[in-house]
Formats: sequence, C-alpha cells, structure tokens
Amino acid sequence: MNIKDSEALTFEYIPDDISVRKEAYEKIISKFENAIERKEKFFFYISGSTGTGKTMVTKKIETHFSKKYDNLYVSYYNCARISPYDTILEMYRNVMKYIVKDERFVENIAFSPDLKSTGYSGSVYLKDILNILSKKEKSMFIILDDVKEIFVKNGKDIFYVLSRPMEFMRENSTIPPIYLLLTSQKSTIQTFLPEDIQSTIQNTPEHKITFNNYTVEEIVDILKARIKEAFSEIDIADDALEEIAILSYKSNLNARYAIDILRDSYDIASTEGCSSIDISHIRKAMDINDVNAYHDDIGVDELTDTQLLILLAITRVLDNKKLKTNSVDVENEFNKIIEEYGYRVSAVQSLKVSHPTFLSYLKKLKDMDVISMKTYRGGLEGTTTVIDSIMIPLYDLKKIEELVEDRIRRLKSETS
Ligand SMILES: Nc1ncnc2c1ncn2[C@@H]1O[C@H](COP(=O)(O)OP(=O)(O)OP(=O)(O)O)[C@@H](O)[C@H]1O
Ligand SMILES: [Mg+2]
Repeated sequence: MNIKDSEALTFEYIPDDISVRKEAYEKIISKFENAIERKEKFFFYISGSTGTGKTMVTKKIETHFSKKYDNLYVSYYNCARISPYDTILEMYRNVMKYIVKDERFVENIAFSPDLKSTGYSGSVYLKDILNILSKKEKSMFIILDDVKEIFVKNGKDIFYVLSRPMEFMRENSTIPPIYLLLTSQKSTIQTFLPEDIQSTIQNTPEHKITFNNYTVEEIVDILKARIKEAFSEIDIADDALEEIAILSYKSNLNARYAIDILRDSYDIASTEGCSSIDISHIRKAMDINDVNAYHDDIGVDELTDTQLLILLAITRVLDNKKLKTNSVDVENEFNKIIEEYGYRVSAVQSLKVSHPTFLSYLKKLKDMDVISMKTYRGGLEGTTTVIDSIMIPLYDLKKIEELVEDRIRRLKSETS
C-alpha cells in the first residue's frame, strides 16, 4: 500500500473528480455566468444533508470564478467557523487587498489587528466595501457556506446590506451587481431567513437546488475515485468499500463519514503493518468515528411525543438491515408501538391518529428536516411514500428506545 497524496484524505481537500455532482456544478456555473454577462445580480441556494458535497462544489465554483473574470471579486466564507463580524472584517481586508494593490498599505491598514477595535459595526465596513467596488467598477461574488449559522449568531445585518445594497450606497453611485451563493443543511430557506430578507432574495425554483443523499452505489463510486487520487497502490476489497458505504448511507452522513473511515482504516492497517485493508480495520475505524458525533442539528427535545414514537417506528423498521421503508410499514409499526405502550400508560392511546393525519405528521417531520422522504405517484399501487433516513442522532435503536421510555415515564407521572 502506497499513499501518493495524503492531502486527498483530509477535510479541506477539493477532489478533481466530483463524480455525480458534476452536472449540478456545471448548471450552477452557467446560471451565474449568464447573470454576470448581463451584469444583473444573482442569488443561488444549495441545500443538502451533511456530506452531500455542498462545500466541495462551492469551493470548486470559487476557484472557477476567481480565474475567469478580471472585474469580479470572489470570496468564500464558512459561516460555521467564523463569526458574522469576523466574516465582514475578512471581506473588508480581502477587498482592500484586491483593490489596493499596494502591499504596504494593506499590511498596515487592512491587516492591522486594531481593525476590530475601531468599534465600527459590521455594516459600516460592508458599506465601504460596496462603495469601493462601485467606484472601481468591480462586482462581487460571495459564497456563504453554512449560512444558517449567520442567523444563529445574530448576524442578520450582513444579509440585510447584501440583499438591499441600494440603501447603503453613496448618492450617484451605481450598485455593483452582487452574486451570492448560499448553502445550508436546511432544505427550506424560509425556516431560518427573516421575512423581510426573504422577499429580496430570489427564492424561486430556478434559484435553488437540493443535493439529495447519495445512494450506496454513489458512495462506493466516490470512494473509488478518492482512492485513485490518494493512493498509488492500495489493496481494499469491494465488499469492504460497500460496508463503509452502507453505514454512511444509513446514518445519513453521505460521503463525509465514508472518507473519514477510508482514511482511518488505512491508518490502522498501516500501523498494524498490514498490506491490505480488510473488514477488521474498517470496524476499528468505525469504532473511533461515532456516527452520532457528526450530527448537531435538531435536538430530540424539540420533538413532540407522537413525533418521537414515529421515529421509534422508523428506526425499528429500518433496523432490520433495510435501507429504505415506506409510510405503510411505518404506520403499522407505529400502531403496534401505541398498543405496546398503551397497556402501560393509557395516555399513549390518545396519540393514535387517522391515516391522513399520520401522513401529515410524516410530512411535517420531513419539513423539519428530521427524516428524508420522497413520494412517488402513479403505478398500480397508487402513491408510495419512501422514507430512507433519519437525520438526527437516533440511528441507534437502543438510544431512541431509552428516550421513549423517558417520555413515557413523564407522561405516566403527569396523568397519575
Ligand atoms: N460527489 C463527490 N465526489 C467526491 N467527493 C465528494 C463528493 N461529495 C462529497 N465528497 C467528499 O465528502 C466530504 C464531505 O463533503 P462536503 O464537505 O462538501 O459536504 P457538505 O455538504 O459541505 O457537508 P456539511 O453540511 O457537513 O458541511 C468531503 O471530503 C468531500 O470532498
Ligand atoms: Mg460543508
């Protein structure tokens, strides 16, 4: 086994081969290029669960546009890693560096550690940025990766200025067209964007895309492509790759977990002096990469009793080594659970609902991004609703049973 590029297995690496995302990547590029050539502003939104390639695609887009246009200032920010205020300061420094080619000036002023202590609010810097760009007839392409964090950290101002630049420009200056690419794990931008901002960004189907979860086969392909980029020679069996892909798929971690396991099982195998990676190395790598540690989104406390029981039903059905299930099996399991617990606490019996209500509950869980679900129409069977994963750390059946027990105890003490 020989590694040729250890970078290729790290978090920051941008692969040459982006596999199934190539089509989406090209589509997004051409949408922006059309707008840039027309000199019109353009906003675009990518959503998708963890590990579906959002960061990878946006970084590739950053590289593409940095090289392509002279009068376009392109920058990428990971909003999960830096605060909204630091994002703006960083933007200010970058713009200064880009516009004012005098290195000494930039070193002295824009990079001064005192910049932060001026006490100016972020919007003052943003206004400056816009006015400088306008004067120099440059436009700006900003990528805000994991944008939800901006709102979590109370950085709504940035968005306000970027979405209504005209209100912040000096008189008689033209607004530089702004190109904005956003990503988030949330499928609906409405769930976290303040209403006044929603109306100014272009929230229509042409302006957004969802990166669906990868299938097991797609994850295997991604792993194979990455192996080619990272190793000059490696011995790893196809069924070992499949094992990684199945767990990545079931735990809804997509390529993220898969690549972590690939790297760690290689490390473990080399440390053990083995010449090939086998299932035992993969199991050890899985032990040190807990799937639950990756998720941090919705907390179970936010779920109602019924929602929690529905998740228990889904987990039970999926636990049987199945990768997908449907609404009918889940509803049957849910009714069994109601009976099972209803014997102990009569309050649980009242959680029973009609079929249409049950479907609306599933839909609500989907809208909350708690489960991934698709509905197929037509065919002899009519409509089928397929559920393929749970997005929160309830993958472990034991864990969710414990949570349900907790709730049941609470219900019992409330009703007695
Ligand atoms: N289509 C793909 N081809 C090759 N590698 C991929 C692909 N999709 C994702 N990856 C790899 O999987 C890992 C996770 O992808 P990435 O960081 O882009 O996910 P993300 O959608 O940004 O996730 P998060 O929401 O957690 O930030 C990265 O190492 C990335 O290079
Ligand atoms: Mg990301």
